[in-house]
Amino acid sequence: MMAAAVNHYFGSSIGRKQLVATTGLLLCGFLVSHLAGNFFLLVGPNAFNLYAHKLEALGGLLFVVEGILAVIFTIHLGLAIKLNIENVKARGGAKRYALKKNTGRGTTFMSQTMPWTGLILLAFVILHIKSLKLGTYYTTVVDGVTMRDLYKTTMEYFVSTPATIWYVVAMVAAALHTSHGFASAFQSMGWNHGKYFKNVKRIGYLYAVLVSGGFAFLAVWCHLKGV
Ligand code: HEM
Repeated sequence: MMAAAVNHYFGSSIGRKQLVATTGLLLCGFLVSHLAGNFFLLVGPNAFNLYAHKLEALGGLLFVVEGILAVIFTIHLGLAIKLNIENVKARGGAKRYALKKNTGRGTTFMSQTMPWTGLILLAFVILHIKSLKLGTYYTTVVDGVTMRDLYKTTMEYFVSTPATIWYVVAMVAAALHTSHGFASAFQSMGWNHGKYFKNVKRIGYLYAVLVSGGFAFLAVWCHLKGV
């Protein structure tokens, strides 16, 4: 009975939308913590490497957190693609008007480009993990402890001008994606009542500018420092 209800909920369009919303908001949370950690780059090599080393020292716990992150990312991506295909199919028929009317989300540039900015972010994350997390493994000694020199790997990567430009372009996509996604997630959860929703939209824009701007700033900073 319970399993049937759960199946019915996640099989429904609103259930899927709410899962995309929840996983999207969780990914927004990850980005804030990731950006905060990356600011250790500004402090210096030892501070950044110690921070990364402390994360690494979590061992099994880090592995579990990374697994959860991968599951969240996969659910978000998979269901967003599924919903988008359903929308495109629905738009092909007479449902076009009804769909727009029902969702009430309007069609701004940001909402229309969600699938494209999402795909840019997917490509970004794959290349990002390949070039940094799985990038050259240098070692260094800090306070007598041998650890990975992730600072060197990162700085070396951003010496490249095309790589830095790619980061800035991807962060423009991230800003467009999160600014629409943030408010849209609240709408999917049904938390879009009255004047509060205006503030939710403002917070979404602020989040997009600060977080994407923060990452783009760090990429340019690393480039200028490394060149
Ligand atoms: C200037 C911008 C950025 C820098 C310098 C940066 C740096 C890094 C570094 C050094 C790692 C490897 C961490 C480790 O191996 O312990 C990493 C991992 C990662 N980054 Fe970034 N990052 C940036 C932006 C982003 C953005 C915008 C996203 C997402 C849209 C992102 C998503 C990830 C993910 C998913 C991982 C793998 C996490 C894990 O498996 O532990 N990063 N990043």
